[in-house]
Amino acid sequence: MSALTLADLAREAERRLDPAVWDFIEGGAGQERTLAGNRAAFDRVWLRPAVLAAAGRPRIDTTILGRRWAAPFAVAPLAYHTLAHSDGELATARAAGAAGVPLVVSTFAGRTFEDIAAAAPGPLWLQVYCFRDRDTTRALVERAERAGFEALVVTADAPHLGRRLRDERNGFTLPPGVRPANLPDGDYASPAGHARAEFDPALDWSIVDWMRSVSRLPVLVKGVLTAGDAERALAAGVDGIVVSNHGGRQLDGAPPTLDVLPEVAAAVAGKVPVLLDGGVRHGADVVAARALGADAVLVGRPVLHGLAADPHRGVALVLEILRDELLDAMALAGLGALDGIGPDAVLTSARPA
Ligand code: FNR
Repeated sequence: MSALTLADLAREAERRLDPAVWDFIEGGAGQERTLAGNRAAFDRVWLRPAVLAAAGRPRIDTTILGRRWAAPFAVAPLAYHTLAHSDGELATARAAGAAGVPLVVSTFAGRTFEDIAAAAPGPLWLQVYCFRDRDTTRALVERAERAGFEALVVTADAPHLGRRLRDERNGFTLPPGVRPANLPDGDYASPAGHARAEFDPALDWSIVDWMRSVSRLPVLVKGVLTAGDAERALAAGVDGIVVSNHGGRQLDGAPPTLDVLPEVAAAVAGKVPVLLDGGVRHGADVVAARALGADAVLVGRPVLHGLAADPHRGVALVLEILRDELLDAMALAGLGALDGIGPDAVLTSARPA
């Protein structure tokens, strides 16, 4: 198939996927205000070019937590890549590794950590959901660390799963053959039902210390949307922050991530890396996120679209399109390096605090 944009791949994925699986991937919580808001926030931002800026061919590699990324984006944690294709995370890991960017593997990965690590030439991080049964969480972390994973991303915005009305209307359950490959046997058919039974709904910031007690890996917290929580995260000793509203799948009515990025970045003040996800669909979005304070972004749904649209080439295509669009936007805006992208590079109501 030929695709020039991530939207082309999304259309092809929708054509190929079972409608209920498409809704599970695509949907958000409640009225999907936050889901729509993430995208709308990017659409409100304009790039302010500098002409005759002697920019040359842009450089887009960057270093995050001591590791070189070929581009300032990575694959967001997404449950069950096996919903899009049976190769699941193996295909995604190969494509991310070939592109030189990390893959954040979900607690609910459909393939084993060991197999993913064997498939991946690039860095892997583990996204961690904290279960009431802490031994399950500990075993998950230890297993990923043994498999060579390099960082832990604790998802903080999910005491339970948000109400995803599309899934409720569809009576969505996981198709046969799709299950979490790194968790003990259990009843996972209904993602919302499982989360309500097993997720720890009473986490606090001491979870960062607990992570440190079970692992030597850097710990990032995903789901920060306010300066206050960024300060609490720093006080808890995190190694990085992911500004995220879970792609609009948790608290409907939570603000668009790009709109709160300046306040979070100001509170973090460069002490640890700040990543952002939610609605990144174009290379120019990466420029906007950098301008407003993110070191890098995570890309969610488009990766599953790529995998569903073309299991062999699709994810590679997603990452290539983003890279090429980013290079194009930077060159045309007169930006030769990521470090040169500051608040002046954009025109927006959400100026840095
Ligand atoms: C997610 N997300 C997610 N987050 C997480 O911490 N653990 C997980 O297992 C999942 N699983 C998951 C499945 C699917 C199908 C989607 C769409 C999303 C949220 C994800 O990491 C990220 O925050 C958003 O997807 C980013 O928004 P975009 O790029 O999808 O708009």
